[in-house]
Amino acid sequence: MPSFPPRVFSGVQPTGNLHLGNYLGAIKKFVALQATHECIYCVVDMHAITVPLPPADLRANIREVTAAFIAAGIDPKKHIVFNQSQVAEHAELAWVFNCVARMGWLNRMTQFKDKAGKNSENVSVGLFAYPALMAADILVYRATHVPVGEDQKQHLELSRDIAQKFNNDFADSIAACGHGEAFFPLPEPLIQGPATRVMSLRDGSKKMSKSDASDYSRLNLSDDRDTIAQKIRKAKTDAEPLPSELAGLAGRPEADNLVGIFAALAGESKAEVLNRFGGQNFSGFKAALVDVAVDALDPIGAEMKQLLKDSGHLEAILNDGAARAREIAAPVMTAVKDILGFVR
Ligand code: TRP
Repeated sequence: MPSFPPRVFSGVQPTGNLHLGNYLGAIKKFVALQATHECIYCVVDMHAITVPLPPADLRANIREVTAAFIAAGIDPKKHIVFNQSQVAEHAELAWVFNCVARMGWLNRMTQFKDKAGKNSENVSVGLFAYPALMAADILVYRATHVPVGEDQKQHLELSRDIAQKFNNDFADSIAACGHGEAFFPLPEPLIQGPATRVMSLRDGSKKMSKSDASDYSRLNLSDDRDTIAQKIRKAKTDAEPLPSELAGLAGRPEADNLVGIFAALAGESKAEVLNRFGGQNFSGFKAALVDVAVDALDPIGAEMKQLLKDSGHLEAILNDGAARAREIAAPVMTAVKDILGFVR
């Protein structure tokens, strides 16, 4: 495999209610990667329509994710921030990848099975083909590194399989077109740090989710300080004091979750947090957690509110990002067409 220049790509779906899980699992990592990598961050609106979503909500959600990116510290001038539907090459390459991926591969996707449930005859074809579009998102920039949560690992493996099969199936044409031994890199997931899986504040065995009926189950990025404090004070715990060692968190999902959230927000390890709070009861720990959560989240929420007042400014950022994204994607797509044998 030849080496490809490092490039980061990731996407967030504009499906509403951005919460702490999105922040710690994705956006905070996106911010950190800017120091070491060239980064492309995408609001994946085409993924959002794989399930029904009212247009007015979609429009508002796209602005919300864009504002969250910027408020959290992504620099749209040094890096690229845009929305997927503005760069038509995503859809073009996704069609090609629909013809590279095998039914059997997509049939194994656990997220599709979870989302379709018993309803699999009646969900959209797009929901099934979703991972091929995700592969196109990444590979249309020939990105090498993809920060994602645990739940996207299987989709990323599929992206690698698609890239590999394209490279193999068209090896002769890739070489004949002057692209050497491989046209696409095999993108690597970047999954690290504590609390990549943030759980519900009401039930430590369920993921924090935008669709949980109880708003007390999650910390939304738009929550003000009082709401953050109240949700943490009401978060479910057990009756024991905090353990002093990691092993003591086993079988205590709520304690584990709150310690993980503290660690991620404070930039410490869970062991360090337990070192400090081991033996204490939850009321003292929760008060400290309120402080770190408010310190981390309140400035982001406040900045988002400011940004959302000026949708013209947000759209200008997205338009500029899309133009720069297109400059990278268009020649890749042209090369793919030549490799496939399309006449242009
Ligand atoms: N499927 C991802 C999610 O739901 C979002 C996504 C779409 C994505 N395309 C991507 C993530 C490309 C990383 C790279 O979280």
